[in-house]
Amino acid sequence: MPDNPAPEVPMIAFTVDGVDVRVPDNGVSLLAALRGGLDVRSAKAGCNPQGQCGCCTVLIDGSPRVACVTPVRRVSGRVVTTVDGLSEADRTRWSDAFMATGASQCGFCTPGIICRLEGLRSKGVAADDKPAVDRALAAHLCRCTGWQTIGEAWALAVSGAAPTAAALGAGRDLEAASERATIEGRAPQRVGGDVSLGRAGFAEDTAPRGALVAIPDGAGGWITAETLPAARERAGTVQGRHGTVEPVPPLDLPEGEWALALRTSWVEPAYLETDASWCEPGGEPASPIANGGAFGAKEQSIAMAAARELADLHGRPVRVVLSREDTVRMGPKRPPIAAGIRADGTGVIRVVRTPGYDAAVHSVSTGLVIEEVDVAGPPTSLAIRGAGWVEAAVLSAGLEAKLARDIPGAVTDSFPRVATVTSPDGATATVAIGLDGVVRVDLECGRILDDIVLRSYVIGAVHMALGWVTSEGLAVDDGGETSTLTIRSFGVLRSADMPFVEVSLHGTDGEAVNGSDAVFAATAAAIWSAQGWPVDWPTRQLPDLGPGVKQ
Ligand code: FES
Ligand code: FES
Repeated sequence: MPDNPAPEVPMIAFTVDGVDVRVPDNGVSLLAALRGGLDVRSAKAGCNPQGQCGCCTVLIDGSPRVACVTPVRRVSGRVVTTVDGLSEADRTRWSDAFMATGASQCGFCTPGIICRLEGLRSKGVAADDKPAVDRALAAHLCRCTGWQTIGEAWALAVSGAAPTAAALGAGRDLEAASERATIEGRAPQRVGGDVSLGRAGFAEDTAPRGALVAIPDGAGGWITAETLPAARERAGTVQGRHGTVEPVPPLDLPEGEWALALRTSWVEPAYLETDASWCEPGGEPASPIANGGAFGAKEQSIAMAAARELADLHGRPVRVVLSREDTVRMGPKRPPIAAGIRADGTGVIRVVRTPGYDAAVHSVSTGLVIEEVDVAGPPTSLAIRGAGWVEAAVLSAGLEAKLARDIPGAVTDSFPRVATVTSPDGATATVAIGLDGVVRVDLECGRILDDIVLRSYVIGAVHMALGWVTSEGLAVDDGGETSTLTIRSFGVLRSADMPFVEVSLHGTDGEAVNGSDAVFAATAAAIWSAQGWPVDWPTRQLPDLGPGVKQ
């Protein structure tokens, strides 16, 4: 409940989730007030205070608003509703719909999206009004799901059709569902109705009240304060800005005569839950990956070690919080490459130096020579979604498609639009970019365990691959500094940009292995081929897949 203000600070009164509250009028945002003195955890901070990810969306007098750019002063006398304050029936409606469609994976983005959709529902928007839903979702980012299942959750919730009992858990093995989610995300992930309500146990939410807050000082150390706004004020934090440097591939192609060449750019992992941890003195730090969602990008997060060290140093619980800008500057990226491949499958991948890269490539292709080079830029990591083997697989599948096109007598009026990739895990994915505007995926990855979860991951992988090839990039200047730090600038595809994805899962009795990384690679190869193998990614051609309708 409200902090005790100094006597001269005026108070602001409003209602949060049905409770009358008063907070000091000290210039903070609504989000800071909610997550600070009011102890409301369902509104998430994904880019605070950039106002670009939608994770902090709440309803103000029934209309969706992003709380991180809303001064708390502006809600004086008004009614603020988070997902926690929806009626029991409405909360259940949304969590059931998200669970039944697989529309929430890590769950960090979902409470804000539910508030947005509830605002839409209250205006009477029809279940099948996809353009209206796309417009509403344009204020949000989701790194996991690829949007389609969120649209399906909307339609299910608004149509009034009851989700099947099986989809909600009766007869559905939620442990098996969680196992599949964990395999796909390569980090522990739980599947359950409360995940979509933001209750997956994120470190920022589970930190003890009164923990000291620590943020990076930009020089390798930490600034501590009693509250996050105070720490940021002390740091004089430079907020995200949109630079003028364009994202371009940082490496030149290797010398040679190539049948196919490719240069990739710096890209931002852009997971929505920024790195955070907390620790008691002498205790174990909380994981910054409470429920997956980072696709390998947090494996080397500094948050846990810092929380432990600072808690021991200060003799009290410490909560470490990285801002969006910190995460972009400090977090590892997929290593950019410049590669050439000959018709016989031999070639060279020049790559920003990343330990273990050659072994990753050679797990799927022995004909490619690796040239590691030092480039000024952000750190790189092999942990990021199949880095190394995916690029090799894309080159091989792209080459296969190009050679098929070049066969005398082949139909050449359209580029081949299909690719098949087998991952080092043994999953095989075939992705076809249909002339009818539909992306069709066939996947075999052992026992399915839970088709709703696996399908959701497949669609998410298609979304991430389409973005990687066509639209995503991170601007890094000549000195290696990341010059654009706003989450909207990374080029993550919006709901309206996504084609419809049709998924066919082919279960076997074999061991369940990760399937979505194979889908990621096959999708990248298929869209690259469909666009005629442009050398530089992002291609800046949106995945306009043909004359067909989008989802
Ligand atoms: S945290 Fe408010 S929009 Fe991202
Ligand atoms: S479920 Fe949307 S960001 Fe993870």
